[in-house]
Amino acid sequence: MAERRPLATISARSMPRPKHGIGPADSGGNEFRGSFRLRGMASLIVYYAHPGHKFSHVNQHMARAAGAIDGITFVDLYRDYPRFDIDVNVEQKRLLEHDVVLFQFPLFWYSTPSIIKEWEDLVLEHGFAYGSSGDKLAGKQMMLAVTGAGPAEAYTHDGFQQYPLRTFLTPLEQTARLCGMHFSAPYVLYESLRAPAAGLVEPHVGGYRQLLEAIRDDRYDFDAANRMDVVHFDGLPIGTGS
Ligand SMILES: Cc1cc2nc3c(=O)[nH]c(=O)nc-3n(C[C@H](O)[C@H](O)[C@H](O)COP(=O)(O)O)c2cc1C
Repeated sequence: MAERRPLATISARSMPRPKHGIGPADSGGNEFRGSFRLRGMASLIVYYAHPGHKFSHVNQHMARAAGAIDGITFVDLYRDYPRFDIDVNVEQKRLLEHDVVLFQFPLFWYSTPSIIKEWEDLVLEHGFAYGSSGDKLAGKQMMLAVTGAGPAEAYTHDGFQQYPLRTFLTPLEQTARLCGMHFSAPYVLYESLRAPAAGLVEPHVGGYRQLLEAIRDDRYDFDAANRMDVVHFDGLPIGTGS
């Protein structure tokens, strides 16, 4: 009879593709508490995911701005992994080298574009990201930059979408916490399809650039951000530096 290993030791990459799976959620007590603190420069990695990049009216410009900022790492997941053949070793090494991990994406069916889920399933392995010895991400910061077509008032309990945007993002938030990471309020643009006509692309992209530079330069006020639900370009919690 085939040997059966305990589920928690099986990682997605040790299983035959295309079946992916991880063991039971097991934080191993590495949940990190307290405030996120950076000293001097923060190493920031931006993971961009948009399968329709060339048709984008907002994220494409955000991605271009992010990619042009000195001193941060920018990864276009659909460009680098068009066949979803994510290199787990490369990605885990990248995670080890950065303090802040930011996912930028358009909201698709109340969630992320699928490559981010694939990235999570493969990269956040037991023994690396979670589990009794999986503490490699502990103390790091996860952030999101999200655009959605729905208006802000729709993302309320009384609104059309029935739940706040943060509720739809809780799988990412809890994934961060399980990995011992902090999760900061997402940088959000509602009504993204109307943004070009409303003249909101430029301020949103400008705000994104400011946000990324502030994180890099340790001027982003994570404590203030933690008191916010979502962050907009016109209310960025940016300080003068520490
Ligand atoms: C497959 C698909 C699913 C989408 N699901 C949502 C959704 O759940 N909520 C929402 O507000 N917008 C949704 N949208 C709208 C996108 O979020 C919107 O097209 C995007 O934010 C626009 O940014 P871009 O110009 O950079 O592509 C969806 C769009 C597509 C194509």
